[in-house]
Amino acid sequence: MIIAVDGPAASGKGTIARALAQHYGLPHLDTGLLYRAVAANVARLELDGAIEADAVAACDFDEALLDDPILRSDAIGSLASVVSAHPLVRAALFHRQKRFAYQPGGAVLDGRDIGTVIAPDADAKLFIRATPNIRAKRRHAELRAHGSTISLDKVLADIRARDLRDSTRSNAPLVPANDAALLDTSFLSIEASVQRAIAIVEARLQA
Ligand code: DC
Repeated sequence: MIIAVDGPAASGKGTIARALAQHYGLPHLDTGLLYRAVAANVARLELDGAIEADAVAACDFDEALLDDPILRSDAIGSLASVVSAHPLVRAALFHRQKRFAYQPGGAVLDGRDIGTVIAPDADAKLFIRATPNIRAKRRHAELRAHGSTISLDKVLADIRARDLRDSTRSNAPLVPANDAALLDTSFLSIEASVQRAIAIVEARLQA
């Protein structure tokens, strides 16, 4: 069973994907982390993420980087959005994600293009949404909890810029798959969001 969970930054897709993986006993891949690792490598090598060849050179990152807390920062998230717009960066990370999705027994993946590009025939596809203001508040609280002093306005501006870049790029833009179930978490608790997500997957499995 493959479950695809897509959506914009701070929509709750990561939390929902992890909960679904636990519920169904499936391995989980946060694909945003791969793009974040490329971004962190661009910064480490002092390359320019806006230049495709530079971003491609950074795709060969050390696996240990995936566990580095630096990947969670807002700056790396924004740079990840820049490097992920390059077709050759997406191509470099494609097979790894595809292999994970199609491993025996199945998997849960979250990202932007799982239901459209990585696993178009996933058994269940969810597209998670929430208003930009609510996503900014959630991300702001999370960053503050980790010691950041970033303002709410800056987080909101970053989220809006990232939404625009992720959804208007020509290669694998952030759009719901035609057969994705939409789940708006704006006014739902984490528990309620997870229960809805499980109900959606159950309905898909019985269809
Ligand atoms: O989900 P996230 O915030 O960790 O993702 C960081 C950036 O990586 C996001 O702004 C766009 C990019 N990304 C992508 O293009 N495709 C994915 N499947 C996952 C993330």
